[in-house]
Amino acid sequence: MTARLLNTSLALLCLGLFEVLKAAKISCRNEEGEAVDWFTFYKLPRQVKRQDKDSGETGLEYLYLDSTTRSWRRSEQLMNATGSVLGRTLHQLYKAHTSKSNNTAYLMYNDGVPKSMNYGSKYGHTKGVLLWNRVQGFWLIHSIPLFPPIPGEGYDYPPTGRRNGQSGICITFKYNQYEAIDSQLLVCNPNVYSCAIPATFHQTFIHMSQLCSKSSSSEIPGRHVTKLQSAQGQNFLHFAKPNSFLDDIFAAWMAPQLKTHLLAETWQRTGQELPSNCSLPYHVYNIKAIKLSQKAYFTSSQDHSKWCISQKGTKNPWTCIGDINRSASQAFRSGGFICTQNQHIYRAFQGLILSYEKCV
Ligand SMILES: *[C@@H]1O[C@H](CO)[C@@H](O)[C@H](O)[C@H]1NC(C)=O
Ligand SMILES: *[C@@H]1O[C@H](CO)[C@@H](O)[C@H](O)[C@H]1NC(C)=O
Ligand SMILES: *[C@@H]1O[C@H](CO)[C@@H](O)[C@H](O)[C@H]1NC(C)=O
Ligand SMILES: *[C@@H]1O[C@H](CO)[C@@H](O)[C@H](O)[C@H]1NC(C)=O
Repeated sequence: MTARLLNTSLALLCLGLFEVLKAAKISCRNEEGEAVDWFTFYKLPRQVKRQDKDSGETGLEYLYLDSTTRSWRRSEQLMNATGSVLGRTLHQLYKAHTSKSNNTAYLMYNDGVPKSMNYGSKYGHTKGVLLWNRVQGFWLIHSIPLFPPIPGEGYDYPPTGRRNGQSGICITFKYNQYEAIDSQLLVCNPNVYSCAIPATFHQTFIHMSQLCSKSSSSEIPGRHVTKLQSAQGQNFLHFAKPNSFLDDIFAAWMAPQLKTHLLAETWQRTGQELPSNCSLPYHVYNIKAIKLSQKAYFTSSQDHSKWCISQKGTKNPWTCIGDINRSASQAFRSGGFICTQNQHIYRAFQGLILSYEKCV
């Protein structure tokens, strides 16, 4: 082979490899469609109080923070647009589905299945999407009932998800993290409503494959916390609570495990909420209101978000985003939280707290 021919074939080989890698880069995506290591979003409720007057919004605006930015930004797009962060990120799944790719796996799970009005309690109170191949993928954990639509239907945002606030986090993970995720998911017992896992993955991801085929015969193990690391090296701690752990995940497990007092923002419907709890060495307080600026705020009764954060001034600041609200009935449900010590995430969420309930 002449040198020139060799060069050309090398160039072609590299180009081919580059194409494969580019195609393989499943990631969380920002509004520009660029790959990011992680992002978190806070969809705002429809009614926000401004100077004590109600002001109507579309219920589709959101705050957004990712691994390349330092503080919350207002979205440019509405949440129902394919150009939103969820639209951009999920596009990779809808596209992989139409190309019938057989090296890409996905799972969609939600206790409230799109287009159904039954919220089954047989499965965990847990919502999310996983998409990955042999290189990497993302895990989106969110609070939005009836979301997202199954592949075939394309991206949309449910009208029922507009009224209240919603939260979520997307993290890009390398392939080697998915076995740990597989075990955590088994504990959370998700209601998988759409999935495809190529046969070549079945041996490695036993639980997700069984959840996908609804053939799960595996016994659900006890509560489990595991370390996960994003593709770019951000550390996370994932808590998986089975329904056999009959307790308040915040007071009985997360606060003592993280060794910090926690402030929790979860859906607070009167009569069902657990009061702030200072019985144990690490306290848990219920956040009551969220401030968007000096003049704009909303209350936790309008917020279906699920997150908690270390009290201000702690040496050990954590932020967790997940599945479960502080209500007595949720002790009977499985689900999880993913926590991080990332300081930008911490400052962003800490800056939203307007007031919380002291212990009586
Ligand atoms: C999103 O919702 C807004 C406000 O209701 C509406 O005007 C817009 O057409 C919707 N966009 C899509 C893509 O559905
Ligand atoms: C799936 O992958 C196998 C092995 O890589 C290949 O032989 C087969 O043609 C693929 N099937 C489809 C439907 O793409
Ligand atoms: C606080 O939480 C712990 C753990 O769930 C529980 O045993 C205790 O009774 C709670 N205290 C109050 C005042 O609710
Ligand atoms: C917690 O969530 C469940 C299911 O979404 C709901 O039925 C319950 O009312 C919520 N609890 C509170 C205190 O809002």
